[in-house]
Parts: sequence; C-alpha cells; structure tokens
Amino acid sequence: MSNDAYTLASEAAAALHRASGLDTFDVALVMGSGWVPAADAIGETVGEVPFTDLPGFRAPAVAGHGGKIRVLRTSSGRHALVFLGRTHLYEGLGVDAVVHGVRTAAAAGVRTLVLTNAAGGLRPETQNVGDPVLISDHINLTGANPITGTTFIDLTEVYSRRLRALVREIDPTLSEGVYVAFRGPTYETPAEIRMLRTLGGDMVGMSTVLEAIAAREANLEVLGLSLVTNPGAGLSGEPLNHEEVLEVGRATAARMGVLLAKVVDRL
Ligand code: HPA
Repeated sequence: MSNDAYTLASEAAAALHRASGLDTFDVALVMGSGWVPAADAIGETVGEVPFTDLPGFRAPAVAGHGGKIRVLRTSSGRHALVFLGRTHLYEGLGVDAVVHGVRTAAAAGVRTLVLTNAAGGLRPETQNVGDPVLISDHINLTGANPITGTTFIDLTEVYSRRLRALVREIDPTLSEGVYVAFRGPTYETPAEIRMLRTLGGDMVGMSTVLEAIAAREANLEVLGLSLVTNPGAGLSGEPLNHEEVLEVGRATAARMGVLLAKVVDRL
C-alpha cells in the first residue's frame, strides 16, 4: 500500500473494480447524514463493499453515517457508486482521508459526482426543514484545503450550472443557496450564524466543500444538494442535536430518493 494519497485512491479504485466486476462507473453519490435512507430508491443493488475492505478507507465515526460503498444499477442501466457515509474533517484523520472517496471515484472512472449533506438553514424566512436545496456555491471556513502545492484550481463554477438546471427541470420548486462549511464537530454559536447570514451564506454544515474542491481538481462535474434539517443555532430558540438531523432524513427519505433517482437517470 502506498502513502501517496492519489496512488492510494488508484489502489482503492482497482479494488472496487475487482469487487464489483465492473471496469467503470457513470456517477458517484456521497450520501450525507439525512440522505442514507434515500439510497434505496436510486436503483437496484448489484454489490456492496465495506469501506474497511478498500485501501485508505476508515469506518465512519458517526452513527447514521453508514460505512460502505453500494454499487447500483439504475433503471436506465447506468452504474452508480453510492458512498453510504463519509469521513469528516472533525474526525481528525486529516484532509486526505476526507477526500479519499472522491479521489477513488475519480480513479474508478466516474465523471459526475453528487454530494449530499444535512445542513442548518440560515434563511428560515424562505427555507423549511425537510427541504432539499441546490448548492450554487460555497464558502470554505474549514481552514483546510485538499490540495497542497502550486496547483491553482479555478473555483468559479464548482457546482455545475448545467447540472443545477437539469435538476430544476425535474423539480422547479427547488431553491439554490450558498453552503458554508465549518470544521465542526460543534454546531455554530448564534453569533456565528448571524455572521454567516451577513456573509451571504444560506446553509451551514461540516462537509462537502473539501470533497467538491478535490472533485474539481480531478475535473469531475459536481452537483451539490443540502437537506435542511434544522434552522441554524439561535434562529429557532431550540438547541440542536444530531438525532433531529437523522430524523429529518428518515422523514424525507422517499422524496429525496425519488429526486436522486430521477437526477441519476437524467445525467
Ligand atoms: N450546523 C452544522 N452542521 C449541521 C447543521 C447545523 O446547524 N445541521 C446539520 N448539519
């Protein structure tokens, strides 16, 4: 096994090809907490590989974050890699571990990446808990970046305009918003939430941005979807907890699954 993050991803991709018997995949989806129950609707399962069987992957630390890659065949015959769970920066395993799934998907032949997450809503005036929101752009406040060195990647259009338009054709009611990421694992303070609203953020969470950057480095086309699971801290008067995040996911699984299935079939 290699220590270089990109070589390790190639080794994981080769193991994924061997385990699935497929030599390429059309799309990869990363299912954030809240989205895992939606995975069943995307297609027929043709294989499952636990993260621990692949070089460089760890079992996720958080309950509700799954821990395997499911290989699906969609109704239109496409093959999708579905990551049930992801590694977060707050786990302390480093930024390469956070983006290893994305680099593995790219090395396995994927050209399109769907990143989903659960997020706090910063605009309760217009957002409802349980709504999916298309990510139009991000603000990376994690203090981290998956790229080291002099690779100057353009981030003018991280989240593909083409894919967003395609999703809005499927569901014209979807709104778009700017996703802000903190490292976590603490939720934000009410003062931070007020700051993020002023900065132009619409959703806040602890994932996605580093994966999206790694995906753009690998030239993948990226679609981002947040599920608003709660109003940001201080906006509702209620304390936040992880259980409500998972509960919103369970309650919206059918709607999110149908949406993702249609998206994957139209890509
Ligand atoms: N903040 C950060 N991450 C989150 C939140 C939140 O309010 N809800 C779900 N993930």
